[in-house]
Amino acid sequence: MTVPTPSGQDGGPVGSRTLAEPTPSQVLDALRGVVDPELHESVVELGMIRHVEVDGGAVRVDVALTIAACPLRNQIREDVEGRVRTMKGVREVEVRIGAMDAAERSALMSRARRSAQDSAIAIDIPPSARVLGIVSGKGGVGKSSIAVNLAVALASRGLTVGLLDADIWGFSVPRMLGVDGPLGVRDGKMQPVERRAGSGLVKVVSMGFLAGEDDAIMWRGLVLNRAVQHFLEDVAWGELDYLVVDLPPGTGDVQMGLARMLPRAELLVVTTPGLAAQKVAGRAADMARKGHLRVAGVVENMSGFTCAHGEHYALFGSGGGARLAEEIGAPLVGSVPLDPSVAAGGDTGSPAALDPTSPLAPVFAVLAERIATEIAPLVPMSSCSARLLERVEAALAGTAPG
Ligand SMILES: Nc1ncnc2c1ncn2[C@@H]1O[C@H](COP(=O)(O)OP(=O)(O)OP(=O)(O)O)[C@@H](O)[C@H]1O
Ligand SMILES: [Mg+2]
Repeated sequence: MTVPTPSGQDGGPVGSRTLAEPTPSQVLDALRGVVDPELHESVVELGMIRHVEVDGGAVRVDVALTIAACPLRNQIREDVEGRVRTMKGVREVEVRIGAMDAAERSALMSRARRSAQDSAIAIDIPPSARVLGIVSGKGGVGKSSIAVNLAVALASRGLTVGLLDADIWGFSVPRMLGVDGPLGVRDGKMQPVERRAGSGLVKVVSMGFLAGEDDAIMWRGLVLNRAVQHFLEDVAWGELDYLVVDLPPGTGDVQMGLARMLPRAELLVVTTPGLAAQKVAGRAADMARKGHLRVAGVVENMSGFTCAHGEHYALFGSGGGARLAEEIGAPLVGSVPLDPSVAAGGDTGSPAALDPTSPLAPVFAVLAERIATEIAPLVPMSSCSARLLERVEAALAGTAPG
């Protein structure tokens, strides 16, 4: 793989390069966060990034897939594009997709075999599960409400959804979902608390299952960071289609920890319609950039209120979601109006998304549908890299398939 740096050394200002644009190796660093969802390893380490070129803020990345018709094609393209786009000084991104030749594929195979061998992947989250981190630039915009309702709406599609309450101090998921601890322990692993949602299942882990609401404050600093790591490492998540992570407000250590431990996480940024879009965008993009995470989309919450007479009031302004989406170059996934059923359902543990009398149930259903079909669809495990992985595992077990 070649990564030409125009000056021969990183960072030197050369030719037409604008001052703020990234160097090719900075682009490559950002791409380390793009993980092949099936091989569970960075596309950079797997040798899938053939070439990076930066010219006046225009970045071109050549990606080589295991096979040209890989069903992961679009997902990897979007992920590569999304990460590069969040970098400072990037004006446009072109991703060219090609296919590996036999030699490249065999190098990738032995690389995958090696890492399967020292399989230090302590995180028990299936490689095919999509991880959605719910973030915001500001507290109280409804992250937890969106996380809980989205998780049950996704589960209602017949899926298995993990819900990790990473707001260690201000956990609210157990109350909102009407579930209680303690977490069970089996074979040295914590068992998530399960709750059925329609034909699907939600598996929940929260600090609230370990500490009473008043004790949580005792857990501080490092311990808190380690708590999220424990939740990723020491929980038997089992089968999962999605893992929704409710993050604490702001853009601090927990977010960065998640980026480090689960580099394939994608962010859904929640905003209210009236928030200064640029400010929120700045913070969210900054967080995405620092952690090399992809922003999958924006969800606008509290977007107006429709009273019993059908009259609509834009209580918290309007258009903030669309402005933010434009600002960070991510799609607006949906807008969730203000409705008392969200707060009431949150207090009684019966999420509005599961309440057929709530006007928001169909809103959350559409949000979940867009995520499952468009924004972050599941990848069929019968695809290219999955087959490769199967072969690797079979080879390791000494039973290579014919
Ligand atoms: N669409 C909505 N309609 C009505 N009430 C809502 C809506 N979304 C959130 N709320 C209410 O707003 C309050 C804050 O929501 P929530 O706790 O989900 O926000 P948060 O962003 O997770 O907050 P924090 O930053 O403290 O974690 C809650 O009382 C919740 O019930
Ligand atoms: Mg919250």
